[in-house]
Amino acid sequence: MSTNLAKYEKVMNYIKKAISSGEWPIGSKIPSQRKLAELLSVNRSTIVTALEELKIEGLIEGVMGKGTMVVNNTWTLLAASPPSWDESAPFSAPKPLPAPVLETDGVKAPEHFIELSKGELAQDIFPTDNMQQVMMRLAQSLEPFGYEEPKGYLPLRKAISDYMRKQGTDITPASILIVSGAIQGLQLISAGLLHKGSTVFLEKPSYLYSLHTFQSAGMNLSGLPMDEEGLRADALLKKAMAGPASVLYTIPCFHNPTGILMSEARRKELLDVCAEKRLPVIEDDIYRELWIDSPPPPTLQSLDVNGHVLYIGSFSKTLTPGLRIGWIAGSEQVIERLAEIKKQTDYGSSSLSQLVAAEWISSGLYEQHLSFVRKELKKRRTAALHALDEHMSDLAEWDIPAGGFLIWLRMKEGIQLKDIYSKAYRAGLSLNVGSIYTGESVQAIRLSYGYASIEEFEQGIRKLRQIILEDN
Ligand SMILES: Cc1ncc(COP(=O)(O)O)c(C=O)c1O
Repeated sequence: MSTNLAKYEKVMNYIKKAISSGEWPIGSKIPSQRKLAELLSVNRSTIVTALEELKIEGLIEGVMGKGTMVVNNTWTLLAASPPSWDESAPFSAPKPLPAPVLETDGVKAPEHFIELSKGELAQDIFPTDNMQQVMMRLAQSLEPFGYEEPKGYLPLRKAISDYMRKQGTDITPASILIVSGAIQGLQLISAGLLHKGSTVFLEKPSYLYSLHTFQSAGMNLSGLPMDEEGLRADALLKKAMAGPASVLYTIPCFHNPTGILMSEARRKELLDVCAEKRLPVIEDDIYRELWIDSPPPPTLQSLDVNGHVLYIGSFSKTLTPGLRIGWIAGSEQVIERLAEIKKQTDYGSSSLSQLVAAEWISSGLYEQHLSFVRKELKKRRTAALHALDEHMSDLAEWDIPAGGFLIWLRMKEGIQLKDIYSKAYRAGLSLNVGSIYTGESVQAIRLSYGYASIEEFEQGIRKLRQIILEDN
């Protein structure tokens, strides 16, 4: 019995892989039971059991007179029934920025400004010498360049595919779309795959609350609680309804704004819930390489066997946001759909930036640079935690981030943060108030130790203490 069980599960996985890779796209007829039995060297009865299970999961369906057809693999399903352009309104006017960003209108920033809000690496971490070398090398062998193919510069897609394979995700260059930063990836997904009125489940707080990309396109955000292992799978299970009307957006590595790293067990739990609810997942993994203590658990995409995960990567947080290069990896059919929208949007990301990014990865300089960045972040994290221990322990609580450069400062009960953004701004300190990441009032501040120098961070925290104490 148990061997039979293992066999039918193997058959199921084989079929799921064929569907999730786009090899058996939606609407295609799957091979006959006899052919599958021959191909996989199993009995017909094993095939029958596997097909029954897949029918229950909603992936295939018997169609009168046609045979057994592929009917669903979440993203593929969404790509096969995209919203119309007037429905998705990808360029509709964005909602206004959250109020705290506007409060400084007309107020001139002091000359010496401490940036604890910037979500990027410090200028002295920028690899100027190597960037010059890379660009010079490219300049010397420069050939005419024009529009790239819609999915992006092939050598870059190959380099990213090799890179992801090392991380455990088997993805071909055909299943990768180069985008102008992760943010464009999110815009393309919202414009090209999701329907108005659908629900985006996500961590609360989340970077996505600060964007309005999904809300402007008519989607509802449904925030879920987190604990120290990441988004709570039990909360998702309770709230999510099955079907293509909703999607999960998550930042599993060094989450923005909390810095939390999702554990491997939680990743599996979440994927189980998503499989049960047939919920497609957007894995925004742009902080993955910024680990400080040890490499993070495998990507959700590599752990998933159902093709439920669209993966987003970027060079913004590791190399420079100025390149404006990121990527989306997923099943080929879905990537084709997104590439089509990208083509209609901007006809491809800058060829020059793509050449530069490809050279960084394939020369090995990228990995070298990452080691340097991790060491720098470690120093900065130690100093940042020290400054917080010294000046904030009676006022706030925080967790030690295992990577990235963000700290979510939660004020202790009774501590007021009224007008903290503008008060800090006037005092020459920039910070992001928590409400940007929740869409509602919250007694928290997001701090970044990635941009300001170690000394500035300490000064900034001292200033912050003074400002808070004036009101408390
Ligand atoms: C979680 C997350 N996703 C996406 C982005 C945007 O990245 P990019 O510069 O690649 O567009 C950011 C930037 O802060 C981010 O924090």
